[in-house]
Amino acid sequence: MRKISKEIKEKSKLSKEEWKEYFYGHWYFGGARQIEHEAMFPEELPKRLIKMYTFVGDTVLDPFLGSGTTIKVALNLSRNAIGYEINESFLDIVKEKLGLKQSLLQFSENIQVIRRQASVNVDEIDYLPRIKDAKPKIDPKKLNFKSDRLYRVVDIIDEQTIRLNTGLLVKFLGVKIIKREEAIEYLRDRILKKEVYLKFDNSVVVDGNTVNAYVYLKNKIFVNAYLIKTGMAEADKTKDYKYKTKFVELEKRWKNG
Ligand SMILES: C[S@@+](CC[C@H](N)C(=O)[O-])C[C@H]1O[C@@H](n2cnc3c(N)ncnc32)[C@H](O)[C@@H]1O
Repeated sequence: MRKISKEIKEKSKLSKEEWKEYFYGHWYFGGARQIEHEAMFPEELPKRLIKMYTFVGDTVLDPFLGSGTTIKVALNLSRNAIGYEINESFLDIVKEKLGLKQSLLQFSENIQVIRRQASVNVDEIDYLPRIKDAKPKIDPKKLNFKSDRLYRVVDIIDEQTIRLNTGLLVKFLGVKIIKREEAIEYLRDRILKKEVYLKFDNSVVVDGNTVNAYVYLKNKIFVNAYLIKTGMAEADKTKDYKYKTKFVELEKRWKNG
């Protein structure tokens, strides 16, 4: 294993906040406007990965350069970078991104563009990323955490929606609120500002920023079940989910006193 000097380790260090945020199960940050290339990702994505997995002075390889987001970030983070791009028409965009367009020098002394002899006919390569192919919805599998992460509830949006400190909106899965005022009061008194963890099931994603989930307080109180058990809500019978039978049973028990 290679030895990394103390100085390099120090320069590559993540702050406590970065460490906590980067090594959590999933990340939330804005996307990139697709103005130059149709499949650009935001700088925050390579930034985090580069800071997590490389040291200052290491070399980052991006085999699918596109508009050059990864190498731009790598260079900014004092890493070396190599990028491969099959479509030469992106070169201008890459240069623009790296700030080389404005430079009087053809290329900076630290940056080289090497054209390689194509071993295939590039014109025949059918690579055309399209925005419509992108799936901006949150992948349910990614939300199915192994380790339970705690979130803080920062807002009660309505009787069935809370906002977490990551900006994610969460609706109570399997729950149909029937006593709106009472439910809001309960959420404000007992859930707002508290730490919760989430579990997921079917139909997780409502939209790009909202998920359906089972919400648990740190002390394991199951909020969805509690809402039904106390008559503030009924079980949602319009869709299938893991705890449907349990929720219907809780609703019956409440109704039968
Ligand atoms: C999804 S885009 C990368 C976008 C990039 N992450 C950004 O932020 O701009 C993939 C890029 O890989 C290039 N590409 C596809 N096949 C390639 C290959 N065999 N060798 C090099 N580049 C390739 C495409 O031309 C396209 O620009």
